[in-house]
Amino acid sequence: MKSIIKKFTSIRLPFFSPLHIYFDLGTTNTRIAIKNKGVVLVEPTYLGYNSRIKEYIFFGAEAKTIVGKTPDFIKIIRPIVNGILYDFDAQVAYLARMMEKSVNPYLSQYRFIKPPIQGISTSPTIATEIEKKAVEEALEKTGCSDVFVIERAIATAAGCGFDVFSHEPHFVIDMGGGLVELSIISGGGIVGQKALKTAGDNMNKLIGNYTYLKHGIVLGEATCENLKIKLLNFTKDETTTNVRGKSLETGLPKTIKLKSSDIREALMSQFHHIVDAAKELIELSPPEIADSVFKNGIALTGNMAAVKGVNDFFIQELKIDTYVAENYANATIQGLVKLDKDSQALFKLVGN
Ligand SMILES: Nc1ncnc2c1ncn2[C@@H]1O[C@H](COP(=O)(O)OP(=O)(O)OP(=O)(O)O)[C@@H](O)[C@H]1O
Ligand SMILES: [Mg+2]
Repeated sequence: MKSIIKKFTSIRLPFFSPLHIYFDLGTTNTRIAIKNKGVVLVEPTYLGYNSRIKEYIFFGAEAKTIVGKTPDFIKIIRPIVNGILYDFDAQVAYLARMMEKSVNPYLSQYRFIKPPIQGISTSPTIATEIEKKAVEEALEKTGCSDVFVIERAIATAAGCGFDVFSHEPHFVIDMGGGLVELSIISGGGIVGQKALKTAGDNMNKLIGNYTYLKHGIVLGEATCENLKIKLLNFTKDETTTNVRGKSLETGLPKTIKLKSSDIREALMSQFHHIVDAAKELIELSPPEIADSVFKNGIALTGNMAAVKGVNDFFIQELKIDTYVAENYANATIQGLVKLDKDSQALFKLVGN
Protein backbone atom coordinates (compact mmCIF):
# COMPACT_ATOMS: atom_id res chain seq x y z
CA MET A 1 0.00 0.00 0.00
CA LYS A 2 2.81 2.37 1.02
CA SER A 3 4.54 1.87 -2.31
CA ILE A 4 1.31 2.63 -4.19
CA ILE A 5 0.93 5.90 -2.25
CA LYS A 6 4.57 6.74 -2.93
CA LYS A 7 4.12 6.05 -6.63
CA PHE A 8 0.97 8.13 -6.73
CA THR A 9 2.53 11.13 -5.02
CA SER A 10 5.55 10.99 -7.28
CA ILE A 11 3.40 11.45 -10.41
CA ARG A 12 3.72 15.06 -11.48
CA LEU A 13 0.60 16.36 -13.07
CA PRO A 14 1.79 18.99 -15.56
CA PHE A 15 -1.22 21.25 -15.11
CA PHE A 16 -0.72 21.43 -11.35
CA SER A 17 2.94 22.37 -11.39
CA PRO A 18 3.27 26.14 -11.67
CA LEU A 19 4.72 27.81 -14.71
CA HIS A 20 7.63 30.02 -13.63
CA ILE A 21 7.68 33.44 -15.24
CA TYR A 22 10.50 35.91 -14.58
CA PHE A 23 10.18 39.69 -14.65
CA ASP A 24 12.78 42.44 -14.78
CA LEU A 25 10.70 45.57 -14.36
CA GLY A 26 13.24 48.13 -15.51
CA THR A 27 12.74 51.89 -15.68
CA THR A 28 13.33 51.93 -19.43
CA ASN A 29 12.81 48.33 -20.51
CA THR A 30 10.71 45.46 -19.20
CA ARG A 31 11.98 41.96 -19.72
CA ILE A 32 9.99 38.75 -19.31
CA ALA A 33 11.33 35.18 -19.44
CA ILE A 34 9.72 31.76 -19.13
CA LYS A 35 11.34 28.78 -17.46
CA ASN A 36 12.93 26.41 -20.00
CA LYS A 37 12.20 28.87 -22.80
CA GLY A 38 14.28 31.94 -21.99
CA VAL A 39 13.66 35.63 -22.60
CA VAL A 40 10.37 36.14 -24.46
CA LEU A 41 9.99 39.90 -24.23
CA VAL A 42 12.09 43.07 -24.11
CA GLU A 43 9.91 46.18 -24.47
CA PRO A 44 10.19 49.81 -23.43
CA THR A 45 8.31 50.47 -20.16
CA TYR A 46 6.08 53.18 -21.66
CA LEU A 47 2.32 53.60 -22.05
CA GLY A 48 0.09 56.14 -23.75
CA TYR A 49 -3.03 57.17 -21.81
CA ASN A 50 -5.99 58.73 -23.57
CA SER A 51 -7.65 61.04 -21.05
CA ARG A 52 -10.76 61.48 -23.23
CA ILE A 53 -11.74 57.82 -23.11
CA LYS A 54 -9.79 57.19 -19.87
CA GLU A 55 -7.91 54.23 -21.28
CA TYR A 56 -4.34 53.17 -21.93
CA ILE A 57 -4.10 52.88 -25.69
CA PHE A 58 -0.38 52.60 -26.49
CA PHE A 59 2.03 50.14 -24.95
CA GLY A 60 5.76 49.46 -25.10
CA ALA A 61 7.72 50.37 -28.23
CA GLU A 62 4.69 51.98 -29.83
CA ALA A 63 4.26 54.34 -26.86
CA LYS A 64 7.98 55.19 -26.82
CA THR A 65 8.05 56.17 -30.49
CA ILE A 66 5.35 58.82 -29.99
CA VAL A 67 7.05 60.61 -27.08
CA GLY A 68 6.93 64.36 -27.77
CA LYS A 69 4.47 64.01 -30.67
CA THR A 70 1.14 63.47 -28.92
CA PRO A 71 -1.87 65.79 -28.57
CA ASP A 72 -2.75 67.05 -25.10
CA PHE A 73 -5.24 64.29 -24.38
CA ILE A 74 -2.64 61.56 -24.83
CA LYS A 75 -0.21 61.37 -21.99
CA ILE A 76 2.91 59.25 -22.06
CA ILE A 77 3.33 57.40 -18.79
CA ARG A 78 6.41 55.69 -17.44
CA PRO A 79 5.23 53.61 -14.48
CA ILE A 80 8.70 52.87 -13.11
CA VAL A 81 10.81 55.81 -11.94
CA ASN A 82 14.43 55.23 -10.89
CA GLY A 83 13.76 51.51 -10.56
CA ILE A 84 10.74 52.00 -8.28
CA LEU A 85 7.13 51.21 -9.17
CA TYR A 86 5.50 54.62 -9.17
CA ASP A 87 2.19 54.27 -11.05
CA PHE A 88 0.49 51.08 -9.94
CA ASP A 89 -2.54 51.14 -12.27
CA ALA A 90 -0.45 51.93 -15.31
CA GLN A 91 1.98 49.15 -14.43
CA VAL A 92 -0.83 46.60 -14.10
CA ALA A 93 -2.30 47.66 -17.45
CA TYR A 94 1.15 47.51 -19.04
CA LEU A 95 2.02 44.09 -17.62
CA ALA A 96 -1.35 42.66 -18.63
CA ARG A 97 -0.64 43.70 -22.22
CA MET A 98 2.94 42.40 -22.15
CA MET A 99 1.81 39.06 -20.70
CA GLU A 100 -0.84 38.82 -23.39
CA LYS A 101 1.85 39.36 -25.99
CA SER A 102 4.60 37.11 -24.64
CA VAL A 103 3.18 34.57 -22.20
CA ASN A 104 -0.34 33.89 -23.50
CA PRO A 105 0.86 32.36 -26.80
CA TYR A 106 2.97 30.00 -24.71
CA LEU A 107 0.02 29.18 -22.44
CA SER A 108 -2.13 28.25 -25.41
CA GLN A 109 -0.36 24.87 -25.51
CA TYR A 110 -2.22 24.02 -22.29
CA ARG A 111 -5.56 23.36 -23.91
CA PHE A 112 -7.83 22.53 -21.00
CA ILE A 113 -6.42 23.68 -17.71
CA LYS A 114 -3.93 26.52 -17.53
CA PRO A 115 -1.15 26.04 -14.96
CA PRO A 116 -0.88 28.51 -12.09
CA ILE A 117 1.80 31.14 -12.68
CA GLN A 118 4.60 31.69 -10.23
CA GLY A 119 6.06 35.16 -10.78
CA ILE A 120 9.68 35.79 -9.88
CA SER A 121 10.83 39.37 -9.96
CA THR A 122 13.35 41.77 -8.50
CA SER A 123 13.37 45.04 -6.69
CA PRO A 124 16.26 47.45 -6.19
CA THR A 125 17.66 47.49 -2.66
CA ILE A 126 16.66 51.15 -2.23
CA ALA A 127 12.96 50.20 -2.58
CA THR A 128 10.99 50.33 0.67
CA GLU A 129 8.93 47.37 1.90
CA ILE A 130 5.78 49.08 0.64
CA GLU A 131 7.34 49.60 -2.78
CA LYS A 132 8.39 45.93 -2.92
CA LYS A 133 4.88 44.91 -1.90
CA ALA A 134 3.51 47.02 -4.76
CA VAL A 135 5.57 44.99 -7.24
CA GLU A 136 4.19 41.80 -5.73
CA GLU A 137 0.62 43.06 -5.93
CA ALA A 138 1.01 44.29 -9.49
CA LEU A 139 2.19 40.84 -10.54
CA GLU A 140 -0.65 39.17 -8.66
CA LYS A 141 -3.13 41.44 -10.40
CA THR A 142 -1.61 40.41 -13.71
CA GLY A 143 -2.34 36.75 -13.07
CA CYS A 144 0.48 35.37 -10.91
CA SER A 145 -0.86 33.18 -8.14
CA ASP A 146 2.38 33.30 -6.22
CA VAL A 147 5.15 35.92 -6.35
CA PHE A 148 8.77 36.00 -5.19
CA VAL A 149 10.67 39.29 -5.18
CA ILE A 150 14.42 39.16 -4.66
CA GLU A 151 17.06 41.87 -4.60
CA ARG A 152 17.90 42.96 -8.11
CA ALA A 153 21.65 43.18 -7.65
CA ILE A 154 21.84 39.51 -6.66
CA ALA A 155 19.98 38.45 -9.80
CA THR A 156 22.24 40.68 -11.91
CA ALA A 157 25.37 39.16 -10.37
CA ALA A 158 24.02 35.65 -11.01
CA GLY A 159 23.39 36.72 -14.62
CA CYS A 160 27.07 37.67 -14.90
CA GLY A 161 27.87 34.03 -14.14
CA PHE A 162 28.94 34.50 -10.50
CA ASP A 163 28.09 32.02 -7.79
CA VAL A 164 26.26 34.48 -5.56
CA PHE A 165 26.25 32.07 -2.62
CA SER A 166 30.01 31.65 -2.49
CA HIS A 167 31.94 33.83 -0.07
CA GLU A 168 33.97 35.28 -2.90
CA PRO A 169 32.94 38.94 -3.29
CA HIS A 170 32.05 40.18 -6.76
CA PHE A 171 31.55 43.80 -7.78
CA VAL A 172 28.88 44.61 -10.36
CA ILE A 173 27.95 48.04 -11.71
CA ASP A 174 24.50 47.89 -13.34
CA MET A 175 24.03 50.97 -15.51
CA GLY A 176 20.39 51.11 -16.56
CA GLY A 177 17.99 53.82 -17.60
CA GLY A 178 16.80 54.88 -14.16
CA LEU A 179 19.37 53.63 -11.73
CA VAL A 180 23.09 52.95 -11.55
CA GLU A 181 23.46 50.28 -8.89
CA LEU A 182 26.96 49.53 -7.66
CA SER A 183 26.91 46.34 -5.61
CA ILE A 184 29.32 43.96 -3.98
CA ILE A 185 27.76 40.51 -3.62
CA SER A 186 29.03 37.71 -1.41
CA GLY A 187 27.55 34.76 0.51
CA GLY A 188 24.07 35.18 -0.99
CA GLY A 189 23.75 38.81 0.07
CA ILE A 190 24.81 42.36 -0.68
CA VAL A 191 27.84 43.36 1.34
CA GLY A 192 28.09 46.89 -0.01
CA GLN A 193 25.97 49.02 -2.27
CA LYS A 194 25.43 52.49 -3.66
CA ALA A 195 22.62 53.58 -5.97
CA LEU A 196 22.66 56.67 -8.18
CA LYS A 197 19.48 58.02 -9.69
CA THR A 198 21.31 59.85 -12.43
CA ALA A 199 21.38 57.02 -14.94
CA GLY A 200 20.92 56.61 -18.72
CA ASP A 201 17.63 58.48 -19.08
CA ASN A 202 18.82 61.41 -17.03
CA MET A 203 21.83 61.61 -19.33
CA ASN A 204 19.44 62.29 -22.22
CA LYS A 205 18.20 65.35 -20.32
CA LEU A 206 21.78 66.49 -19.73
CA ILE A 207 22.47 66.28 -23.46
CA GLY A 208 19.39 68.46 -23.97
CA ASN A 209 20.66 71.00 -21.44
CA TYR A 210 24.12 71.03 -23.01
CA THR A 211 22.90 71.71 -26.56
CA TYR A 212 20.46 74.33 -25.26
CA LEU A 213 23.15 76.25 -23.40
CA LYS A 214 26.01 75.76 -25.83
CA HIS A 215 24.26 75.88 -29.20
CA GLY A 216 20.96 77.63 -28.45
CA ILE A 217 18.95 74.71 -29.77
CA VAL A 218 16.03 72.83 -28.25
CA LEU A 219 16.11 69.07 -28.84
CA GLY A 220 13.47 66.46 -28.00
CA GLU A 221 14.12 63.62 -25.57
CA ALA A 222 14.21 60.94 -28.27
CA THR A 223 16.73 62.95 -30.30
CA CYS A 224 18.96 63.30 -27.24
CA GLU A 225 18.81 59.55 -26.61
CA ASN A 226 19.75 58.86 -30.24
CA LEU A 227 22.69 61.25 -29.96
CA LYS A 228 23.90 59.45 -26.85
CA ILE A 229 23.65 56.03 -28.49
CA LYS A 230 25.24 57.18 -31.74
CA LEU A 231 28.00 59.44 -30.50
CA LEU A 232 29.00 58.55 -26.97
CA ASN A 233 32.15 56.50 -26.61
CA PHE A 234 35.32 56.46 -24.55
CA THR A 235 37.59 55.52 -27.43
CA LYS A 236 39.53 57.61 -29.94
CA ASP A 237 36.60 57.37 -32.39
CA GLU A 238 35.36 60.85 -33.17
CA THR A 239 31.96 60.35 -34.77
CA THR A 240 30.11 63.40 -36.07
CA THR A 241 26.46 63.90 -36.87
CA ASN A 242 24.10 66.68 -37.88
CA VAL A 243 21.10 67.19 -35.68
CA ARG A 244 18.05 69.34 -36.23
CA GLY A 245 16.09 71.04 -33.46
CA LYS A 246 14.35 74.30 -32.73
CA SER A 247 16.38 77.49 -32.55
CA LEU A 248 16.12 79.19 -29.20
CA GLU A 249 16.37 82.59 -30.91
CA THR A 250 13.96 82.25 -33.80
CA GLY A 251 11.83 79.24 -32.86
CA LEU A 252 12.53 77.89 -36.34
CA PRO A 253 14.35 74.67 -37.28
CA LYS A 254 18.11 74.84 -36.82
CA THR A 255 20.78 72.26 -37.65
CA ILE A 256 24.02 71.87 -35.73
CA LYS A 257 26.95 69.49 -35.96
CA LEU A 258 27.79 67.44 -32.86
CA LYS A 259 30.81 65.26 -32.16
CA SER A 260 31.48 62.40 -29.74
CA SER A 261 33.58 64.78 -27.65
CA ASP A 262 30.53 67.09 -27.18
CA ILE A 263 28.46 64.25 -25.73
CA ARG A 264 31.38 63.16 -23.55
CA GLU A 265 31.69 66.72 -22.28
CA ALA A 266 27.95 66.86 -21.51
CA LEU A 267 28.03 63.58 -19.59
CA MET A 268 31.49 63.49 -18.07
CA SER A 269 30.34 64.67 -14.64
CA GLN A 270 27.80 61.79 -14.54
CA PHE A 271 30.45 59.19 -15.26
CA HIS A 272 32.67 60.78 -12.63
CA HIS A 273 29.85 60.39 -10.11
CA ILE A 274 29.83 56.66 -10.86
CA VAL A 275 33.61 56.51 -10.40
CA ASP A 276 33.36 58.39 -7.09
CA ALA A 277 30.62 56.05 -5.85
CA ALA A 278 32.75 53.02 -6.77
CA LYS A 279 35.76 54.48 -4.92
CA GLU A 280 33.66 55.19 -1.83
CA LEU A 281 32.22 51.71 -1.86
CA ILE A 282 35.67 50.15 -1.98
CA GLU A 283 36.99 52.52 0.68
CA LEU A 284 34.13 51.56 3.01
CA SER A 285 34.63 47.83 2.44
CA PRO A 286 36.57 45.63 4.87
CA PRO A 287 40.09 44.82 3.57
CA GLU A 288 39.22 41.22 2.55
CA ILE A 289 36.37 42.43 0.37
CA ALA A 290 38.42 45.25 -1.16
CA ASP A 291 41.15 42.72 -1.92
CA SER A 292 38.70 40.41 -3.72
CA VAL A 293 37.38 43.32 -5.76
CA PHE A 294 40.94 44.14 -6.88
CA LYS A 295 41.48 40.49 -7.71
CA ASN A 296 38.16 39.77 -9.46
CA GLY A 297 37.63 43.13 -11.13
CA ILE A 298 34.33 44.86 -11.87
CA ALA A 299 31.59 43.59 -14.19
CA LEU A 300 29.46 46.16 -16.05
CA THR A 301 25.82 45.41 -16.94
CA GLY A 302 22.74 47.32 -18.14
CA ASN A 303 22.35 48.83 -21.59
CA MET A 304 24.67 51.73 -20.74
CA ALA A 305 27.49 49.19 -20.67
CA ALA A 306 27.16 49.21 -24.47
CA VAL A 307 29.00 52.55 -24.59
CA LYS A 308 32.23 51.72 -26.38
CA GLY A 309 35.30 51.90 -24.18
CA VAL A 310 33.35 52.64 -20.98
CA ASN A 311 35.21 49.82 -19.23
CA ASP A 312 38.54 51.38 -20.23
CA PHE A 313 37.37 54.65 -18.71
CA PHE A 314 36.72 52.86 -15.40
CA ILE A 315 40.06 51.04 -15.60
CA GLN A 316 41.83 54.36 -16.08
CA GLU A 317 39.99 56.06 -13.21
CA LEU A 318 39.85 53.19 -10.70
CA LYS A 319 42.95 51.19 -11.63
CA ILE A 320 40.83 48.04 -11.31
CA ASP A 321 40.18 45.61 -14.13
CA THR A 322 36.69 46.39 -15.45
CA TYR A 323 34.89 44.46 -18.17
CA VAL A 324 31.49 44.39 -19.86
CA ALA A 325 29.55 41.26 -18.84
CA GLU A 326 28.81 38.93 -21.73
CA ASN A 327 25.04 39.30 -21.53
CA TYR A 328 25.13 42.82 -20.08
CA ALA A 329 21.73 43.91 -21.41
CA ASN A 330 19.75 40.96 -20.03
CA ALA A 331 21.93 40.05 -17.06
CA THR A 332 19.20 40.63 -14.45
CA ILE A 333 16.52 38.51 -16.07
CA GLN A 334 18.97 35.80 -17.04
CA GLY A 335 20.19 35.78 -13.47
CA LEU A 336 16.65 35.07 -12.26
CA VAL A 337 16.33 32.19 -14.69
CA LYS A 338 19.69 30.85 -13.56
CA LEU A 339 18.95 31.14 -9.84
CA ASP A 340 15.66 29.30 -10.30
CA LYS A 341 17.50 26.31 -11.76
CA ASP A 342 18.49 25.52 -8.20
CA SER A 343 15.13 25.05 -6.48
CA GLN A 344 16.48 26.14 -3.10
CA ALA A 345 18.25 29.30 -4.29
CA LEU A 346 15.18 31.52 -4.43
CA PHE A 347 14.00 30.41 -1.00
CA LYS A 348 17.39 31.37 0.39
CA LEU A 349 17.15 34.81 -1.17
CA VAL A 350 13.57 35.84 -0.44
CA GLY A 351 13.40 38.25 2.44
CA ASN A 352 17.05 39.22 2.15
N1 LIG B 1 24.08 51.51 -27.31
C1 LIG B 1 23.81 52.28 -26.26
N2 LIG B 1 24.70 53.21 -25.83
C2 LIG B 1 24.42 53.99 -24.78
N3 LIG B 1 23.30 53.93 -24.06
C3 LIG B 1 22.40 53.02 -24.42
C4 LIG B 1 22.59 52.16 -25.52
N4 LIG B 1 21.50 51.37 -25.65
C5 LIG B 1 20.66 51.74 -24.67
N5 LIG B 1 21.20 52.73 -23.93
C6 LIG B 1 20.60 53.41 -22.76
O1 LIG B 1 20.46 52.44 -21.72
C7 LIG B 1 19.36 52.83 -20.89
C8 LIG B 1 18.45 51.63 -20.67
O2 LIG B 1 19.19 50.60 -20.07
P1 LIG B 1 18.48 49.32 -19.46
O3 LIG B 1 17.57 48.71 -20.47
O4 LIG B 1 19.56 48.47 -18.91
O5 LIG B 1 17.62 50.01 -18.31
P2 LIG B 1 16.52 49.37 -17.38
O6 LIG B 1 16.92 48.01 -16.95
O7 LIG B 1 15.19 49.51 -18.01
O8 LIG B 1 16.55 50.43 -16.16
P3 LIG B 1 16.91 50.27 -14.62
O9 LIG B 1 17.60 48.95 -14.43
O10 LIG B 1 17.79 51.44 -14.35
O11 LIG B 1 15.61 50.36 -13.92
C9 LIG B 1 18.63 53.95 -21.60
O12 LIG B 1 18.92 55.18 -20.96
C10 LIG B 1 19.21 53.92 -23.01
O13 LIG B 1 19.25 55.20 -23.60
MG1 LIG C 1 17.91 47.16 -15.32
